[in-house]
Formats: sequence, C-alpha cells, structure tokens
Amino acid sequence: MIDLHCHVLPGIDDGPPTIEAALDLARDAQRDGITTIAATPHIHPEYPNNDAALVWARIVALQPRLDAAGIAVKLVPGGEVDALHALVLADEELRALHLGGGPWLLLECPLSSIAAPAFIPTAKALAARGHKLLLAHPERSPVFLPHPERLDELVNQHGMLAQVTAGSLSGQFGRTVREVAHRMLETRSVHVAASDGHGAHRPATIARELEQAGVEPHLTAWLAHDVPNAILTGAQPPAAPEPRRPRRRLFGR
Ligand SMILES: [Fe+2]
Repeated sequence: MIDLHCHVLPGIDDGPPTIEAALDLARDAQRDGITTIAATPHIHPEYPNNDAALVWARIVALQPRLDAAGIAVKLVPGGEVDALHALVLADEELRALHLGGGPWLLLECPLSSIAAPAFIPTAKALAARGHKLLLAHPERSPVFLPHPERLDELVNQHGMLAQVTAGSLSGQFGRTVREVAHRMLETRSVHVAASDGHGAHRPATIARELEQAGVEPHLTAWLAHDVPNAILTGAQPPAAPEPRRPRRRLFGR
C-alpha cells in the first residue's frame, strides 16, 4: 500500500518529535502493509521554515535511518499545503511539493470554520494554475461536512480527487465524520485512503482502519494502492470499482 498523507518527518510540524518516534511511526506503517510513504508535513504559516527544500533534506536524512533499522518503507516527497498559503507560493515551489514529483498537490481542506468560505474559490484558482489537486480529508472539514455535494462539483467539474482519512472511516473522529466519510465512499466522491499519521497518538495505519470499518478488500486496494500509484506516476487514475453489494431497490414489489 501507498500512504499519500503522513507526517512522518521528525521535528518539523505536529508529527513525531524525534527520529526515534519517526522510526516507530514507520514501523507501524510497515506492519500495516504500507511500503511507500509520501512525507507530507504541514506547509502552513504556523511552520514558517517548512518548504520543499526542507522536506527533501529531511527525507535524505531519514531514509538511511529507516534502511539501517530494517524498515522497508520508501519515502517520497510531498506536503500538506494550506490553501491560502498556497495562493502566495510560486508555481515552482508548489510543483516541488507535488506528491512524489508527479502532477498532484495535496491540499488541506480547512478544519476551522473561519477558513472555510475562502476554500472553494482558492482551490479552483490553484487548479486553474495547472495543479492537479488531491483534497485532504474533506469528511472532516466544515466546507464539506454539511454540503457533501460541493465535493462532487470539484471532482466532476474541476478534475480534483479527494483523500479520506482511514481513521475517519473507523470512527476515530466521531460518528458524524464517520457517517459522512462512508457516504462519500459509497458515492465514490473520495478516491484515496491515507493515514494522516502523526505518531503514537495517530498511528500510520490504513488497512487496519479500513478493515475495522468494513471496507471490502477490492475497494481498499483501489483506495490505498491503485489510485495512489497513479497519482505518484502521473498515470490516469483507475475508475472506481462498482459496489459489490446489490443496491437497495427504490420500489419494492
Ligand atoms: Fe495531515
């Protein structure tokens, strides 16, 4: 599996504070079946030193530590980019933050109501600048929680994809988020499942959460391998698998 959203790099945001804690996070990921992690620290004014150059420097420092510890996880660059901050960054910097050097940028859906109104126009402006957008955890955002149809518009009319956090499906963020996450998955409005792992308090696990949430294995493979792989390589993301369970009849006999 490929984890496209994970705060694995130590000491640069609210992820693991030390290298040892980062190794523990990566061990959890490996146990979960994750073989590739996109290192996606917050690219946000709250962490003013975080930029593409720092992400790359920290990957170059951490990867040999993983290798030496026998943790078979490959790190690729990325960033969880704050939308308003992205507006002021140059396209060159944003491209350097694309996931794995491909065409997709992980854009954070705001968790605060204050930032919510500006998000959709900002995302459209970034898409118009040529960035393919993977929207991080819409199921947790006040932009989409009350209005899931807004996500469908961005996906269907603006070519964006969306990443559900695995723990949202298993109930880590409460019942409302869980229900919205499952609805978004049923309607195939989300295309990637990622850990959004931060360390001991939020481990980097995908398969465990999706299994607990009752997600069927073929759907897990699409969410956590097939689409993420296309995102990293720049290939056309594969179409969503059809639901296997028969749909409920609208009119019974
Ligand atoms: Fe995150």
